[in-house]
Amino acid sequence: MRGITAKKIKMAREKVSSGIAGLDKMLNGGLPKSNQVVVAGGPGTGKTLLCLEFLYRGALAGETSIFFSLEEETGMIIANMKEAYGQFTEIDRLIAEGKLVIKGTDQASSLIQKDKKGNIFTFTTTIADIESAVVEHSATKVAIDSISVMKLFVKDPFEYRSVSTSLVSMLRKQNVTALLTMEIETSEKERLTFEPEFFVYDGIIILYLSGGQEENRVPTIEVIKMRGTQHSFSTVPYEITPNGINLLLIPHKE
Ligand SMILES: Nc1ncnc2c1ncn2[C@@H]1O[C@H](COP(=O)(O)OP(=O)(O)O)[C@@H](O)[C@H]1O
Ligand SMILES: [Mg+2]
Repeated sequence: MRGITAKKIKMAREKVSSGIAGLDKMLNGGLPKSNQVVVAGGPGTGKTLLCLEFLYRGALAGETSIFFSLEEETGMIIANMKEAYGQFTEIDRLIAEGKLVIKGTDQASSLIQKDKKGNIFTFTTTIADIESAVVEHSATKVAIDSISVMKLFVKDPFEYRSVSTSLVSMLRKQNVTALLTMEIETSEKERLTFEPEFFVYDGIIILYLSGGQEENRVPTIEVIKMRGTQHSFSTVPYEITPNGINLLLIPHKE
């Protein structure tokens, strides 16, 4: 019996913090190390901010963390982060120390490349650029915001799936734990449909805006899938505060 217990303990996946206490609780301790996780949601649900908190808190704990934006310039990302997270006082220091690396669209000229015909886009160079930066900085935590940009340019579904697979394989090879954001059309749980390419990723976290009209709408978070750990299947409301994303978990009855 002892042998079996020891084996089980040895096989348990190492966890890394998502940076968000409530989400770590939902994930039974955190993200399994080296998982490649999609954070999907409608516009304005907090995908970008969730990634930035994951990286900021990782950097605070001494792990080199890199944010790659395929959407915004570096200056804007940092300004928005400071604006939303007024209590994240160490942003400038972590950036100066190279612990938190923010790479916006202005920092990677080869993000979107035309192929020889000049009319089809490829992300091969983007993936190579991301890999070089991960190696250069010895990063352990990564976020890519958003992979929907890829879909916008890679129209052919077969090529899109192939690019997604290459990206995920590269991140796995580099042994980083990554969040990859994805825009979905609906913010409502009832209308959500799953993209066929979701099978590529180790985990899927969805952010919704549900519950009626405009200001009555409540953002909620759900873990749909997470390889390597047990997790909560609840849909949990959250708020974006100056000190980060706060999940409004209902305490368990003892
Ligand atoms: N300064 C701020 N104070 C409070 N909430 C903010 C602030 N800035 C952004 N937010 C909230 O964060 C949301 C945007 O988050 P973001 O991560 O950019 O969304 P997404 O990436 O999903 O489009 C806004 O819709 C708003 O609710
Ligand atoms: Mg965003």
